[in-house]
Amino acid sequence: MMPKREMRIAPSVLSADFGRLADEIAAVEAGGADLLHLDVMDGHFVPNLSFGTPVVESIARHTDLMLDTHLMIENPAKYAKPFVDAGAGSITFHIEVVEDAPALVRLIRGLGVKVGVALNPGTPADAVFDIINDVDIVLVMTVWPGFGGQRFMEECLEKIAIIAARLGPSQWLEVDGGINAETIARVVDAGADTIVAGSAVFGSDDPGAMVGRLRRLAAGAAGSKLEQRA
Ligand code: DX5
Ligand code: ZN
Repeated sequence: MMPKREMRIAPSVLSADFGRLADEIAAVEAGGADLLHLDVMDGHFVPNLSFGTPVVESIARHTDLMLDTHLMIENPAKYAKPFVDAGAGSITFHIEVVEDAPALVRLIRGLGVKVGVALNPGTPADAVFDIINDVDIVLVMTVWPGFGGQRFMEECLEKIAIIAARLGPSQWLEVDGGINAETIARVVDAGADTIVAGSAVFGSDDPGAMVGRLRRLAAGAAGSKLEQRA
């Protein structure tokens, strides 16, 4: 029997109550979250603003979880280092905004953190093929980025499967947008192993328990249909 794929659950603080952020983070950490997903928005690449380095710095002081930092911004090369200095453990940039993706991958790797590349729903898988072997994380958006609480886009499943087939066992295939107890099995079956969930976790009565529930659902799906990625 093939070994089980390792699954990671990454709550997105975008849907947390920022007035009591430390408590919200403590709850998901106690519930077994593997990463904390931080959605940085600049009001240009996406039509919304979220938070910047001061908030990341504060969060870093309150948790041991790796800060999985999703830059939905137009100039990731300029801001990668400030976010790493603030405590980011990975930097994921959007392929749609970069002209020289290999150079940006080298820049981020040189900062000593994991490197991720994200694709919008409208971006085909082959947009990242030339750097896919050089990144640690491929993040497939399953909604149009900008807002939490949107509906999962079924049509992104095929892209997840295409990318899963090209990744090695130590690379992470992350999915982000509309993932909840109903949709999680589908993305795991398609090949995802790192699951972002914002409103499903922080919108629930018990965010810590919801992390555990998502993990069990992911493990069940991973157990039923394995090893596209071994
Ligand atoms: C969307 C963000 C997501 C968002 C997910 O632009 O990248 O990380 O917080 O939220 P849910 O899980 O509510 O779709
Ligand atoms: Zn995100």
